[in-house]
Order: sequence, then C-alpha cells, then structure tokens
Amino acid sequence: MDLRGKTAVVTGASSGIGRATALELARRGANVVLGARRLEQLERTAADCRALGVRATAVATDVTQAGDCLRLIEAAGDVDVLVNNAGFATFAAIADASAEELRAMMDTNYFGVVHCTQAALPRMIARGSGTIVNVASIAGIMGYARMGGYCATKFAVIGFTEALRDEVLGRGVRVALVCPGTTESEFFVKAERGKMPGASRLIGAVSPERVARAVCDAAEDGGYRRILPPFAHLYMRLKETFPRTAHLLMRRVSALLERR
Ligand SMILES: NC(=O)c1ccc[n+]([C@@H]2O[C@H](COP(=O)([O-])OP(=O)(O)OC[C@H]3O[C@@H](n4cnc5c(N)ncnc54)[C@H](OP(=O)(O)O)[C@@H]3O)[C@@H](O)[C@H]2O)c1
Repeated sequence: MDLRGKTAVVTGASSGIGRATALELARRGANVVLGARRLEQLERTAADCRALGVRATAVATDVTQAGDCLRLIEAAGDVDVLVNNAGFATFAAIADASAEELRAMMDTNYFGVVHCTQAALPRMIARGSGTIVNVASIAGIMGYARMGGYCATKFAVIGFTEALRDEVLGRGVRVALVCPGTTESEFFVKAERGKMPGASRLIGAVSPERVARAVCDAAEDGGYRRILPPFAHLYMRLKETFPRTAHLLMRRVSALLERR
C-alpha cells in the first residue's frame, strides 16, 4: 500500500513509539488522526506532522473507553491504517502485584485494541480495505519473571490479532503485528527497568523511530509479524521452537547477571 494521501489513526501518539509512528506516517505522506489522553503533547505531535505537509488531527482519547475510541475513529472517516499502540506497564512479581493494576493494564493494552478495532473494522470490511497494525511486544511471545501482568496483556493482544487475521482473510482487510523488544521511551517512567530479567538486557534497546519504521513497513506491505531488534527475533524463534531451552537460558543467564 502506498501511504501517500491515506488516512492513518495512531493511538498513544503523545510520546514514544506512537509519536514516532505518526511522524513516520506523515513523512511517507499519510494524513494522521492521533489519539491519547495528554492533549497538549498530542497537539505537538500533530503540529510536527503538519509541518511535514500532511493533515493531522489530535483527538483526546482514553482507549479504555469504547466511546472515546469510537469518536477517534469517526473523526478519521474512512480509516486506511489503524495503529493500535497505546499501552503501559508496571512490573511486579505475581505474588506482589495488585489486581487493580493488572486490570488497569489489561484495560489499556488489550481492551484499548479491542475498542479501536471494533470501531474501525465494520467500515473496513464494508469497503474491502484497511490495515490494522497492533503493537504488541516480545513480552507477548515469552513470559518473563516479574512482568507477568504485562505479558498477559500482550499475549492477549497477539491471540486477538492472530484470530482477527484469520477472520478477515480474503475480505481486503490486513492485520499485522509489531513486537518490539526494549524501546527507549517514556514507558520506563512507569515500568521499572531493574525488575526485568537480567538476560533481557543482553537483547539491547531500540529507538522508537526504529519501531515506527517497522510499523509503517507493516502498514505498507501487510507482512504479518515483525520482531525487533534482530537478536530478539532470533531469541523468539528459539522460544517458539524450543521453549524449555529458551526459558532455561533466560533463567540461568539472568541469575548470573543479577548476582553481579
Ligand atoms: N518501551 C518498550 O520497551 C516497549 C517494548 C515493547 C512494546 N512496547 C509497547 O509499545 C507501545 C507504546 O509504548 P512506548 O514505549 O511508546 O511508551 P510511552 O512513550 O510511554 O507511550 C505510551 C503511549 O500510550 C498512551 N496511553 C497510555 N494509556 C493510554 C490510555 N488509557 N488511552 C490512550 N492512550 C494511552 C500514552 O499517552 P497518554 O499518557 O497521553 O494517554 C502514550 O502516548 C505500548 O503498547 C507498549 O506496551 C513498548
């Protein structure tokens, strides 16, 4: 799909991956409709997109609210690309995690995807075109100690995405997943990096701009799954092929690194 002149909706565009995605979409010529709760930051992203020569609208949106998501999608009209990106994490051992916090993460990271997808999908199916790109995580492919609540939300997103892909196959709607590893963003204001398993540090962090390019590539070519960086991609292939080995390695290497 050539993104020039297309309409793209991005949730969580007030910072990090969502902001970088909005800018990359604009660079590739798409008009953007942006959602997040912090309107001032969102307006700044919209203004930066307009400076690249496209139309950009900011719509105050809390993705946990189905009505907000409907308004966001309605503001866009015919949506060519929907990027479900809004999300956050808090990390805690399951024995210590509060059920409210786990539910809040599920409300945003999973139900945010559900609400926006359900708002956009009927019209995409009716038009026989549209691409949905869900930003999941490598934490949706492998469970990590002390990240259980967050992992559950991303496993949910991936299950939802896989099922949706099969449902809409042959109806002109494409569904894609982008699974980043650690990405340098405001995400780590809430998520405590020190609680991540030691071995996850070996994977290396990527920039939001790198993830944004993967999201836009997925919007263009409809390729189903992108995992980045390459080392994370390799490790996830190991996890999917030899799960016990991958978990054993993760535990052993983490124990070694965390002892230091
Ligand atoms: N950073 C990482 O290491 C990493 C790795 C893999 C996957 N991811 C995923 O990538 C996505 C983006 O994260 P990021 O790294 O870019 O973090 P970020 O800089 O903290 O951005 C998160 C975005 O989500 C928005 N958001 C949070 N709750 C929302 C809600 N209820 N309604 C609407 N928007 C909401 C925030 O906007 P407001 O606060 O203005 O609402 C913000 O724009 C998330 O889904 C995250 O799980 C991140």
